[in-house]
Amino acid sequence: MPARTQNAAYVYEVGKSVQLGERDIPSPKANEVLVKVTSVQLLPHDAYGRDKGLFFGEKLPWVLGSSIAGVVEEAGPGVIAFKPGDRVFGISNLGHPTPDQAGLQQYAILQADSIGHTSDHVAALPNLEEPMVVLGAGTNVAKLFTRLATQVLGLRNIIAVADTSNTAELERARARHVIDRHATDASIISQVHAAAGGADRVAHIMDCASWGHSPATALMVRDRPSRLVTLHVVNEAQVQVERPLCHATIVQCSNANLGEHAAAFWRKLPRWLEQGIVEPTAFRTLDGLEHVAAINKQLNEYAAGKGFPQLIVHP
Ligand SMILES: NC(=O)c1ccc[n+]([C@@H]2O[C@H](COP(=O)([O-])OP(=O)(O)OC[C@H]3O[C@@H](n4cnc5c(N)ncnc54)[C@H](OP(=O)(O)O)[C@@H]3O)[C@@H](O)[C@H]2O)c1
Repeated sequence: MPARTQNAAYVYEVGKSVQLGERDIPSPKANEVLVKVTSVQLLPHDAYGRDKGLFFGEKLPWVLGSSIAGVVEEAGPGVIAFKPGDRVFGISNLGHPTPDQAGLQQYAILQADSIGHTSDHVAALPNLEEPMVVLGAGTNVAKLFTRLATQVLGLRNIIAVADTSNTAELERARARHVIDRHATDASIISQVHAAAGGADRVAHIMDCASWGHSPATALMVRDRPSRLVTLHVVNEAQVQVERPLCHATIVQCSNANLGEHAAAFWRKLPRWLEQGIVEPTAFRTLDGLEHVAAINKQLNEYAAGKGFPQLIVHP
């Protein structure tokens, strides 16, 4: 069993630097496991958390880090799929966040339906020809989405807009077209429409980078129903001023939103990794929570829209 207390990198005050501290090691409840954290990937939303309280608001002190890998230390009541010693990876529950489910500390709680280890089989593959435009396709989320969309869902016509340094990787992910995001707006629009087979064929857009809706609406068909999915908050009413038939929503990559599919997703993900259907993202590493200055520096980079490749901390 682990010691009763552990080191943690805390947010004591929103807008201030993360600091090293101690906290109790939690115990897993039903459908939870306690993991010894081996890696936690710092992500842009951790910077928004430190600087603006995203996800946790006034629940202070807080611990950041929601993408976690580790070794199961203890399984809670009713958990049969995971046992002590299993190596697992997963995400914490950002829908109902608690600092126990956080990775910038030595031990973290994860839900048994939000983690995976290595086994299981891949889903069946339907085929879909309809174009799907991915804006911000240089982001990690877009690359993962492209792989799952092409190789699990079977979408065939992904049109990716990204810096051309991503072309080889996006083509490996089976994007059919890669368009330079640094071209002029008019050039991007005409290239996307040409790749889609006409302006009236662009009815599905995923935007992984923009903080406004206009890059997507400029591309979107006008006179039939369409769908815009974003990773940042989107105002559907404003979108509909330009595209009245467009249904626009932010997706939240939380396990709660996977609903009944959550457990199946986490069973399948390890196999998708083994088979190369999805690839781990590029990353750098940092050993030890005591390098809290480097952790804060990375969060500063994210806040400025930089900091790539992302940082994984080994607590
Ligand atoms: N809603 C959710 O649940 C959710 C989940 C995960 C992430 N997010 C948010 O989604 C964003 C992406 O996350 P991530 O982890 O995938 O990021 P990431 O991999 O760190 O994104 C880095 C890449 O973004 C691209 N980029 C930067 N500025 C851009 C711009 N103005 N236009 C287009 N591309 C730009 C760059 O690609 P190139 O220069 O190489 O093209 C850069 O390499 C972040 O803001 C994150 O907080 C939201």
